Amino acid sequence: MPRLTAEWTGDIEEIRRLASQRAGTFDAAFARRFTAHFPTLHPLFVTLYGERDDGLEQLAAVIAEAAASWNERPLELKARDDLREQEPDWYLSNQMLGGVCYVDRYAGDLRGVRDSIPYFEELGLTYLHLMPLFESPEGNSDGGYAVSSYRHVNPALGTMQDLSALAADLRLAGISLVVDFIFNHTSSEHEWARKAVAGEPGYEDFYLIFPDRTMPDAYEQTVREIFPDDHPGSFVQLPDGRWIWATFYHFQWDLNYANPAVFRAMAGEMLFLANQGVEILRMDAVAFIWKQLGTPSESLPEAHLLLRAFNAVLRMAAPSLLFKSEAIVHPDEVIEYVSLEECQLSYNPLQMALTWEALATRDPRLLQQALERRHALPAGTAWVNYVRSHDDIGWTFADEDAAELGIDAYSHRRFLNDFYVTRFPGSFARGVPFQENPKTGDARIAGTTASLAGVEAGDPAGVDRVLLAHAIAMSTGGVALLYLGDEVAQLNDYSYVDDETTAGDSRWVHRPRRPAERYDQRTDAATDAGRVYSGLTALIRARQGTPEFAGGELIGFDARHPSVLAYQRPGADAVILVLANVGDDPALIDPLTLSGFSSAATDVLSGDEIDLARGLALLPHGFVWLRATPR
Ligand code: GLC
Ligand code: GLC
Repeated sequence: MPRLTAEWTGDIEEIRRLASQRAGTFDAAFARRFTAHFPTLHPLFVTLYGERDDGLEQLAAVIAEAAASWNERPLELKARDDLREQEPDWYLSNQMLGGVCYVDRYAGDLRGVRDSIPYFEELGLTYLHLMPLFESPEGNSDGGYAVSSYRHVNPALGTMQDLSALAADLRLAGISLVVDFIFNHTSSEHEWARKAVAGEPGYEDFYLIFPDRTMPDAYEQTVREIFPDDHPGSFVQLPDGRWIWATFYHFQWDLNYANPAVFRAMAGEMLFLANQGVEILRMDAVAFIWKQLGTPSESLPEAHLLLRAFNAVLRMAAPSLLFKSEAIVHPDEVIEYVSLEECQLSYNPLQMALTWEALATRDPRLLQQALERRHALPAGTAWVNYVRSHDDIGWTFADEDAAELGIDAYSHRRFLNDFYVTRFPGSFARGVPFQENPKTGDARIAGTTASLAGVEAGDPAGVDRVLLAHAIAMSTGGVALLYLGDEVAQLNDYSYVDDETTAGDSRWVHRPRRPAERYDQRTDAATDAGRVYSGLTALIRARQGTPEFAGGELIGFDARHPSVLAYQRPGADAVILVLANVGDDPALIDPLTLSGFSSAATDVLSGDEIDLARGLALLPHGFVWLRATPR
C-alpha cells in the first residue's frame, strides 16, 4: 500500500479508485462535493497521519464511508441539505430557541418526547437537544456520556427507528434535532473497548493503554484532574494490571486519535447519525481529544485539525449538519473552536458563568467587560447562550481580565463557590459543590436556575433573578438555550443521594424529573412557576419579534451606574438597548446618559413608548429591551 504524500494530485486518483472499489462509482453530486472538499481533507490527513503506514488506506476508507453514507442519505435529508445551502445563516435568526432535556427524565422515552412536540411548539422551540440516548452501561453511565454503541438507542428509550421518526416529526414542527457526539471516549463496554483490551488485531491502538505507570506518571505531570472524586489523575488500572487513559469516569476510556483507524471509525458513526436526521452534533469534551506528553493535553493544535477534517468529511456526505463545541475552558481557548471550518456553534460558558457572578456580587463589570471584549465571533458562527446546563458551573473567566478590574481571581472563585453552596452568610442561593479538589482548591457548583437564583430559599427577588438571567441570555445573540423545566422554576432534586448510581455526582441535583406539578401551575400567576413561565414566554415572544436580536453583533454601552449592565444590539434602522440591573436597589439612569439616542424609544416587551429625555428607572433586578435610534 502506498503512503500519503504531500502532493494530493497523486493521491487523489488512488483514493478515488480505492474508495469506488468499496462504495461503487461516485454519483454526480458526491463527485462534486468530493472534488470541492478533498483538497481540505487531504493536507489535514497528511499532517495528522502522514507518518503512518496506513494513512492513505485509512483516508480512502473514510472517503468510501462518506460515499456510501451519501448513497444512503434519505432524499428528504438531501432536500434539507439544499434548503440549508440556500439559507446558510438559518441558525443566526432571532427565532432560534433551544430546549434541552433528558429523554427518560423529561418524557419517559422517545415516544414521550414526540408527545411533547405540541408543548415545544407552544414554547417556540426551534432546536431540541436530547441528552445522550445511546446504549450505555447499566447503573452509572455518566448520564449516558459513556456510549457502548453509537448505532443503538438505549432500549429503555426506544430504537434508532424511533429516533429518526422523531427527527422527521420535529422537522415538520420546525425543530432541529440535536444530539451529542461523544467522540473523546467510549464506554468500557463498547465493542472496540473489549477488543482493544483483548488485543484483537486492528483494535490495540484504539485507546491509550500502557503496561505500567511509567507513561501515565509522565503524562500526569502536566494534565489536570477532571473528576477527582472518581479517580485521581487521568488513568485507571485494568484488571490485568495495565493502565488506560480515562479523563472522566473510570468507565469512559479516551479514544486514541493518533490512530487514523479511530478517525475513520468515528467519521462513520458521525455520518450514520447525520443520516438519522440529526441536524446538529454537540461535540462533547472537544478540548480533550488529542494528547501529547509534556502538555496539558487540552486544546492542542491537533484537536483543531481533527475538527476540520471531520467537517470536510461532513461537507461531502451530510452537508447541512452543524457542529456545536462543548469546550468549557479558558475563554481564549473556547473561541478557537468557533469557525465555519470547525464548530459553527459553541456554548458560551463565559457569559453563563459571569451572569451568575454578577448576580452574586451585584456588580456587572466582569460581565460587561466580557461582552465588550470576548463576545465577537467569526462571521456566520453563533454562540449558544444559556443560563445553566446539565453540567456544573465553573468560574472559567480569565484571571487577567479580573485583575484589570482589581479582582483577585483565586479568592473571587472561592467566594463564588462559597456563595453558591450556602457557605456565605446571607446568600440567596441553594447550590451544592461539585468535584471539590482539596489538592488544588478547585471546585465547581451545581443547582437548578431557580434554586441558585433564590426561589428555593424563598428570597422575594428569586423569580426576578431567574427572569433577569434569561433576559441576558436571550438578548446577546445566537441560539438561546433553555434547560427544560427551568421555565416553570424547577427546584433542586436532592433525592439523587438515595440512588447509588447518582449519589456520587452532585450534578444530578439539577437534573430532576419533569416537574409535572409546576407545569400544571404555569398559568397560575400566584405561583413561582406561573410567574417565571409568563415572564419567560413574554421574553420569547418579544425576542421573536425583534430582528435586531439576530446574529451576534453587540456594542457595549456605559450606563454610568454601578449595578447596571448595558449593551446595544444594532439593527438596520435602530438599536435594541438592553439595560439590566443586577443590584438590589432601583437604578436611575439619567437623561444625559441616554442623550445619544432620540428621545422617543419603544419598550419591545410591553410595546410602550418611552421618553428617554426623562431618564429611566430600573427596578431591583429589573431590565428593559428598548428600541432606540442613535442621534
Ligand atoms: C461533557 C458532558 C459531561 C460529561 C463529560 C464526559 O463535559 O457535558 O456531562 O460528564 O463530557 O463525557
Ligand atoms: C466537562 C465537565 C466539567 C468540567 C469540564 C472541563 O464539561 O462536566 O465538570 O469542568 O468538562 O473541561
